[in-house]
Amino acid sequence: MVREAVSGAGGPGLVEEELEHARRMRQRLLGEIRESGGWIGFERYMDLALYAPGLGYYSAGARKLGPGGDFTTAPEISRLFGGCLARQCVEVLERLGGGSILEIGAGTGSLAADLLARLATLDRLPEQYLILDVSADLRERQRRTLEERVPHLAGRVQWIETPPALRFDGVILANEVLDALPVTRFRWSPARCEELGVGIERDQFVWSPRPAGAELGRICRALAQPGWEEGYVSEYCARLPAWALEVTRPLRRGLALWIDYGLPRRQYYLPERRDGTLICHFRQRAHGDPFLEPGLQDITAWVDFTLLAEAGATAGFALAGFCTQSFLLAALGADQEMRHLAGADENRFARLANEARRLMMPGEMGERFKAMAWLRELDMPLSGFSLQDLRHTL
Ligand SMILES: C[S@@+](CC[C@H](N)C(=O)[O-])C[C@H]1O[C@@H](n2cnc3c(N)ncnc32)[C@H](O)[C@@H]1O
Repeated sequence: MVREAVSGAGGPGLVEEELEHARRMRQRLLGEIRESGGWIGFERYMDLALYAPGLGYYSAGARKLGPGGDFTTAPEISRLFGGCLARQCVEVLERLGGGSILEIGAGTGSLAADLLARLATLDRLPEQYLILDVSADLRERQRRTLEERVPHLAGRVQWIETPPALRFDGVILANEVLDALPVTRFRWSPARCEELGVGIERDQFVWSPRPAGAELGRICRALAQPGWEEGYVSEYCARLPAWALEVTRPLRRGLALWIDYGLPRRQYYLPERRDGTLICHFRQRAHGDPFLEPGLQDITAWVDFTLLAEAGATAGFALAGFCTQSFLLAALGADQEMRHLAGADENRFARLANEARRLMMPGEMGERFKAMAWLRELDMPLSGFSLQDLRHTL
């Protein structure tokens, strides 16, 4: 999906430091491709572009989220989002008689601040609030946000770079993290499946096909739908199950709540979605070219929620809910949260109503974003999933 193209390296708006960053990232990628005989898989390209130490989008100092950044997320749009999720956390923490929260990929720290603030007013603060994030500069930004917004609660937060060694009861939350997991890109024809990797032509990155290996061929055949035409392109996130297993392993009893943009598998791989789901973000503009400004732009793919549900089952979780973000927030009492946040301030209420529209309307984030709940060693109805049950679509 190309909404608006961005300029190439050296285009308007890039400061000297960014140009140098982009140049070093390109050299790193070009070097790896040359050393690998002129080709790397797209999964490897995306991995380096997002996570290469000191250079990748999430490992280095790109501006990323919020005003002046590359994209906006639900907690950046409104405190309503954290307020609603707090209600779901309270329900689970009460049933468990206490427990901790682990947030994966906390961005600017806005969601952590909103959640902690609301949990304090509901008198259900978690024993610990853990943040697992790969980005050193975002971890720093999270610290600053928490110190500014909830200084009295910031001491409860601990940052970790790998999943906690000790097991805990409570809630794991991840908003817009799964879409950053590197994906394999493939191109299908009735006779064969190819892996779309990255090669070099005249010093530029280009899509470069190779016959798919046995495993990708098997996956392609399993995903193929009647109606796929010659040249159908899509993505597959091979690492999602192992990653999800690893980050949720420490949860002894409780809820893992995933929110992201994506679809059940049947819809994800519909014949009409013939160019896949890759989306890149650079300075609030979305486009479809992952070769522009690697290291300076975010690269994402939609989440196959059926794959996520399968990963949960393999990890020993019960699939407790699947619905759109719109229904999740409505079921968690978005209207009451708006009243709570606005108090008697009608102007504030009007602003919140506007924010609620962005989070909940179908044409905005309401339907594109889905929520999935996994429960481990805990059998309870979850309010957030009481208004809509889309599990049958998976
Ligand atoms: C798109 S941002 C979302 C941030 C936040 N959840 C929000 O909704 O505003 C992705 C976040 O996940 C982090 N992240 C990306 N890949 C990760 C990984 N493999 N493990 C942990 N954190 C990751 C990034 O550093 C960033 O904080």
